[in-house]
Amino acid sequence: MQYTQSEEVEKANAYISAHKAEVNDLYRGNYHLNPEVGWMNDPNGFIYFKGRYHLFYQNDPFHTENVLAGWSHAVSDDLITWEHLGAALRPDHDYDADGCWSGSAVEKDGRLYLLYTGHYQRNGIRLETQNLAWSDDGVVFHKYEGNPVIGPDMLPEGTSSEDFRDPYVWKNGNTYYMLVGTMEAGAAKVLLFRSEDLFHWEFFNTFLRREGAGYCWECPNLVPLGDTDLFVVSPVDYPHAEHAFHNYNSTVYALGEVLYGSGKMSAGAFRELDYGIDFYAPQLIPYGENKALMVGWMNMWGRSYPTSELGHGWTGTMTLPRILTVRDGAVYQRPVEAIDSYFVSPVKVSDVLTGSKTFQNIGGGCIRLKVKADLKNASRFSVNLFEKGDVRLTLSYDKAAGIVTLDRSHGGVDVRSDAREISRARLRTAPYSTQTLELDIFLDRGSAEIFFGEGELVMSSLVFNGGAEGISFSCEGSVPIELEQRTFVKEVRHGKS
Ligand code: FRU
Repeated sequence: MQYTQSEEVEKANAYISAHKAEVNDLYRGNYHLNPEVGWMNDPNGFIYFKGRYHLFYQNDPFHTENVLAGWSHAVSDDLITWEHLGAALRPDHDYDADGCWSGSAVEKDGRLYLLYTGHYQRNGIRLETQNLAWSDDGVVFHKYEGNPVIGPDMLPEGTSSEDFRDPYVWKNGNTYYMLVGTMEAGAAKVLLFRSEDLFHWEFFNTFLRREGAGYCWECPNLVPLGDTDLFVVSPVDYPHAEHAFHNYNSTVYALGEVLYGSGKMSAGAFRELDYGIDFYAPQLIPYGENKALMVGWMNMWGRSYPTSELGHGWTGTMTLPRILTVRDGAVYQRPVEAIDSYFVSPVKVSDVLTGSKTFQNIGGGCIRLKVKADLKNASRFSVNLFEKGDVRLTLSYDKAAGIVTLDRSHGGVDVRSDAREISRARLRTAPYSTQTLELDIFLDRGSAEIFFGEGELVMSSLVFNGGAEGISFSCEGSVPIELEQRTFVKEVRHGKS
């Protein structure tokens, strides 16, 4: 069945077509997903449907800030090269008048269903409800006439209907389950709802609730991974620790077990998912056996992003899609395998580093660099990425302290945040302990994603470096190092630069 495209979706798509060639691509990723035009935040509706990956995302094409977000849509065969399909959902009903906010996707009988939050905020009223839309071709979406499918009348007493959002849906047995993030006085929580048909929902139980773990929880996810269940959530204003949770909002995970009989989860401690400067609101889906596939938003709320400030016509970057596995109670992350074939022309270097050094043919702004540094006889090791003059992104490891530091205070155009963040978005630290530091570094225009070891630590960060491409290494002591660099297969030009 064909549905007619809503007028607001058509307007957004006309605007995108008219303006996409005008964006400045100096910082647009070659292999990271950016919006065609305007603002991007959370990944939404991630699903493999009819032979392709579909990734939706929060997008306001008309502004480079989130003024009025809907869902825009990209599809991919391999999770690296994305084709933009334009807007999929735009605010056009009372219940979503001020935003079609985040949510997830599920397939039922060959039809693609999206569950999303309708955000309403006017006349002194703020109300968030959960809503349904569907598509048969995966491109044109039809909003259900009976929306909202979950309204304020279904909330347990004391639950905020102002902060009640980001439905995450999955199926277990014959039942659909939905997590929704919310809060009550003094605690953040996620609620569990259930349904047999996606249209009629009932409140099941408070799935997880914690005090002192942020003010409100956003974007919950649940992926079964064999004998454990992985819960990921993005708490607003999560308390800072000395070497973790430095962003204003953090993204945390916990392992445990969904108790389908009672509608609760028994979950362990919260741990940070990505220790970088820019990472939030990821979406996860099951992938193969006992694995999860994840895309995160490589930004953070409350920041001054240069592509917006400099008038580049867009803001927002997704991380590389990553595969998550669990071992000994911890999550390990690595980029999807498909990325391997996008990097060519290997350059290898073996040396013993003392002091500071650069290497011929090691450097570039769109490369993958593997570093293996033997720190038996060294106390510190660091690498400057995107270096030119005073510009650099510095990653350093202090072996005695067991601390990694990622420092973008000289990263080029400054990204500022307010006092709610440690270091105001310029520096992050993470606990880490190793004798042999192994790094898998992905540099793209505007970003760096750094995987440590087998993926036990990841740091993601945007960098607005003006095109600086140098790389240098330094250490205290003497460090046998092996480097292997590959260059991205081709430069993709999105618009004018
Ligand atoms: C998370 C979030 C969600 C909300 C969306 C609005 O980044 O705040 O809770 O649905 O962004 O764009």
